[in-house]
Amino acid sequence: MQVFYTGAEWATIRSNFHAENLSIGLVPTMGALHEGHLDLVAQCVKASTISVVSIFVNPIQFNNPEDFEKYPSSLQEDLELLEKAGVDYVFVPEVKTMYPQETKLRFDFGSVERILEGAFRPGHFNGVGIIVSKLFNIIQPDLAFFGQKDLQQVAVIKRLVQDLSFPIELKIVPTRRETDGLALSSRNRRLSPEDRKKCLILYESMILAQKELFEGKKWLEVQGEISQNFKHCEGVELEYFELVEPDQFELLNEFDPNQKVSICVAAYVGPVRLIDNLPLNA
Ligand code: PAF
Repeated sequence: MQVFYTGAEWATIRSNFHAENLSIGLVPTMGALHEGHLDLVAQCVKASTISVVSIFVNPIQFNNPEDFEKYPSSLQEDLELLEKAGVDYVFVPEVKTMYPQETKLRFDFGSVERILEGAFRPGHFNGVGIIVSKLFNIIQPDLAFFGQKDLQQVAVIKRLVQDLSFPIELKIVPTRRETDGLALSSRNRRLSPEDRKKCLILYESMILAQKELFEGKKWLEVQGEISQNFKHCEGVELEYFELVEPDQFELLNEFDPNQKVSICVAAYVGPVRLIDNLPLNA
């Protein structure tokens, strides 16, 4: 495994690949890797001739400076995990490499970014759009792997790839969970043992909502009941609990078991903001 730090280094490495039918797979990450990332990496290693993982905590996608400062980092450990996973190359750029000057470009993903994460984290998807475009342009992968855990990010990146004609096939990898249901996230490392127990309300609420919807309860009733449950959970603050059509990313007021739908949730558990989602009929 080789670590590189600049686009110029990658251009030299890339120029040595001559094989026909060679495919380059990219897993963009912000480091602090967990088993969920390693699922993406395993799929990338399997599906591509050359696998590349990027590790870069992208400052411009954080709307909350504290979230950025406290974002966990474990580069040495990450590199060991990637080496074991059989990755070929790891791109670890510095901020000044990715942003030699302040970016003036602004992405507007329209209605996709007016709701949920877009509404609660203004500027977040612009930051994601810019960094993912830069990574795509630098690495020029044939395949790129993203986690379904960030469902709205997936919708945004699909738009980005379509609208800018990136010749890249997107592979979306299901969410990895702890045995009790908590979705793996780098931010989980910041949870106190007490908050770790409290955060189960996210997954349990989605499972309860799913059960009630399939029993015929109306969505708005379910949503109201879940909001009340969150109000009774001290130290947990619900931001949203919504029913969504995951491709166009539209909010739904009614559940139709024949339509593709997901529940999306975001909540602060103590100081840590967590998001999760559950496809109801995938
Ligand atoms: O999902 C993430 O970790 C980040 O948003 C990404 C795609 C690596 C861009 O910084």
